Amino acid sequence: MATRSAAPALDLDSVVVRFGGVTALDGVDLTVEASELCGLIGPNGAGKTTLFDVVSGITGPDAGRVHLSGRDVTGWSPTRRARAGLRRTFQRVQTYGWLSVEDNVVAALDWRGGGSGLLGDLVGAPGRRRRESERRTRAREVLEQCGLSALRDAPAGSLPIGVSRLVELARAIADPPRVLMLDEPTSGLDEAEADRLGELIDTVRRAEGCAVLLVEHDVGFVLGRCDRVVVLDLGSVLTSGSPAEVRDDPSVRTAYLGSTA
Ligand SMILES: Nc1ncnc2c1ncn2[C@@H]1O[C@H](COP(=O)(O)OP(=O)(O)OP(=O)(O)O)[C@@H](O)[C@H]1O
Ligand SMILES: [Mg+2]
Repeated sequence: MATRSAAPALDLDSVVVRFGGVTALDGVDLTVEASELCGLIGPNGAGKTTLFDVVSGITGPDAGRVHLSGRDVTGWSPTRRARAGLRRTFQRVQTYGWLSVEDNVVAALDWRGGGSGLLGDLVGAPGRRRRESERRTRAREVLEQCGLSALRDAPAGSLPIGVSRLVELARAIADPPRVLMLDEPTSGLDEAEADRLGELIDTVRRAEGCAVLLVEHDVGFVLGRCDRVVVLDLGSVLTSGSPAEVRDDPSVRTAYLGSTA
């Protein structure tokens, strides 16, 4: 059992990202502790998805560092970060549409090693078949947890958006995360689906003790569920605090909540 380090699960230190003349992140500091549910909100173009891309290693920062549990991962590949327990979902759902729901989750476990797909299962050694069967068992557990068991044979591409987002979440939590980043998980969901997803996120972070960073346009969802909220505006942290502090902050109202508060 690994010792829990005192360092935050996720720590961004003065991160800068520029795209040509646009400064998408302008010296962002942000930490998320283990078991914490941290909301990240801000207007369109504030830099939320760019921040996810920097943390997951898709985009390299022009300056600043990213740490996972105290380790500087700034130069690490996305795969190496995934091995360290980083998981994310995407603003535009990314599932394998031609694979079944269950195979989507199995595929999410394949990178762990030994994964060789159906062909490997047919011609592979017994050890490999055992690992494939373990992955399938784990996939079914997660599908059950996400309320997706009845859809496990459906092609992922045939599903409505609300269900697709659950499949993406199932993929992200199949191998327990240490840091889970969700980019607009309730987008396209009705209220009941969003509630279910919120409960699921809460269950996962309590069960796994993982840090969750949640980007959302549904401000009510964020203020109602998160321990702490960070507000990003034009690439900078405008403010952060408890949901009540953020809700009552006049600068947030002006920059972001103005029309909805
Ligand atoms: N690959 C890119 N090339 C050029 N500019 C980009 C790129 N990605 C993002 N940007 C710009 O960086 C800024 C931040 O974009 P980002 O997508 O991170 O915002 P966001 O907060 O996720 O917005 P939204 O709420 O609309 O999803 C925007 O001005 C955007 O146009
Ligand atoms: Mg975005």
